Amino acid sequence: MLSKILIILILPLASYRLSTAKWKFPDDFKFGVATSAYQTEGGWNADGRGTSIWDVAAHNRSFLIRDRSNGDIACDSYNKWEEDVLMVKNLGVHYYRFSLSWTRILPDGYSSKVNPEGVKYYNKIIDKLIENQIEPVVTLYHWDLPQAFSALGGWTNPIVIPHFANFARKAFRLFGDRVKIWITINEPRLMCDFFKGLVGDITPDYPLGISEYLCAHNVLKAHAAAYHIYDKEFRPIQHGKISITLDMVWSEPANASDPEDVRAAEQNVQFDFGLYANPIFNYDYPKVVIERVANRSKIERIPKSRLPKFTMAEKLKISGTYDFLGINHYITMYTKATKEPPVTKPSFDVDSGGKRFFDPKWEGCAADWIKVVPWGYRNSLKWIKKNYRNPEIIITENGYADGGDVINDDGRINYYREYLNATLQAIIEDGVNVKSYIAWSLMDNYEWGFGYTLKFGLYHVNFSNPNRPRTPKKSVEFFKKVVRTRTIP
Ligand code: NOJ
Repeated sequence: MLSKILIILILPLASYRLSTAKWKFPDDFKFGVATSAYQTEGGWNADGRGTSIWDVAAHNRSFLIRDRSNGDIACDSYNKWEEDVLMVKNLGVHYYRFSLSWTRILPDGYSSKVNPEGVKYYNKIIDKLIENQIEPVVTLYHWDLPQAFSALGGWTNPIVIPHFANFARKAFRLFGDRVKIWITINEPRLMCDFFKGLVGDITPDYPLGISEYLCAHNVLKAHAAAYHIYDKEFRPIQHGKISITLDMVWSEPANASDPEDVRAAEQNVQFDFGLYANPIFNYDYPKVVIERVANRSKIERIPKSRLPKFTMAEKLKISGTYDFLGINHYITMYTKATKEPPVTKPSFDVDSGGKRFFDPKWEGCAADWIKVVPWGYRNSLKWIKKNYRNPEIIITENGYADGGDVINDDGRINYYREYLNATLQAIIEDGVNVKSYIAWSLMDNYEWGFGYTLKFGLYHVNFSNPNRPRTPKKSVEFFKKVVRTRTIP
């Protein structure tokens, strides 16, 4: 009788221990938090920094920004960087991902003139991070293009490629003795498809359905140029890793048993993600993208496909330019197949096709493109594993927005709990090679076209106070616990 009672008592305990042991992030798994230069630094014209397209857009075309604000001061990290590092340290994470402001280092965009004050600024941050056993993960380009290239059409003009490559070389030379994880370009889809290679509708008559592909084409070449510079000139001495960060927008077929919906959803993923990933992992643009843009161009009576072609040499140069894959994930949508639309103007969205929508039952947050759909994220990771031979993945961003000054951010805690769980499931049950998870963001910051109206931070920043004081939100304790215990509380 006694032994029966003991078994009844011990069994659930044992299986609980077993399951917690299973649902644990591996010992070599790393956690981190992220920010980017324009969104946090401020000091927009301090100590010789040159102007970027975002300075100009936010100053001259503030109607593009929801609250008409700008990043002139932002979180004032140009002055408060030491406090930022202490906040990262308090979280106990391994990585701090931040970006370099191109024009803080090269004020005109060209590598002929270096701004020593800019170099000093990043040296201070990198040294302080390392002193605190935090590894810097550095993004070279997080959307703040030197203004010099704007009138040339920004990323739609191949002239940017050698200048970006020179900037990358400078950065490797200046910081590569201490920075071992590099990201060339952040979320090219956003800057090419949404910002059309520039900023917002800064040039409203931009050639739609063309500029997106020109931008993607140049971004891929620029990324490959930087990768090879690192690989040949720096890796042998610096021994680091380099790749690109792509944002994975997941499209799920509206009706999984309708082959048309399945095809349309796959096509959306190829246009949003494959357009950038496929040339790096599989030699060229996805077949469906090549064929579809060629066909649409033909019926639009454009004599040549709107999608540029890579030469064989270019394909070889771009192919394999990754040591891992950086993934930002925020969006899952359903795709319903639609009838081929009549011929109108060229359009990326028409090329991509389908009708996309959110399930109204999905829980949302203050950012209307973010819903809590962890299974969509998990499916997207499985898709990457299947299509690109299971590369090492660093989740370089994932996060949740509040609209106001929320300190007890239970919505964010719930979001992280769900997405971290999905990350564990992807690793343990699906065999996806996710090695790190970096949360967006360390602190509230300038959310581009949404100004200061959306808050993604683990730390709150008071933007009406000139000192920009930081306050830990409830999610800080949650995240600390995840990192410390490697499990999800
Ligand atoms: C991705 C971008 O990289 C980052 O700059 C932005 O703040 C977040 N998404 C949230 O929208």
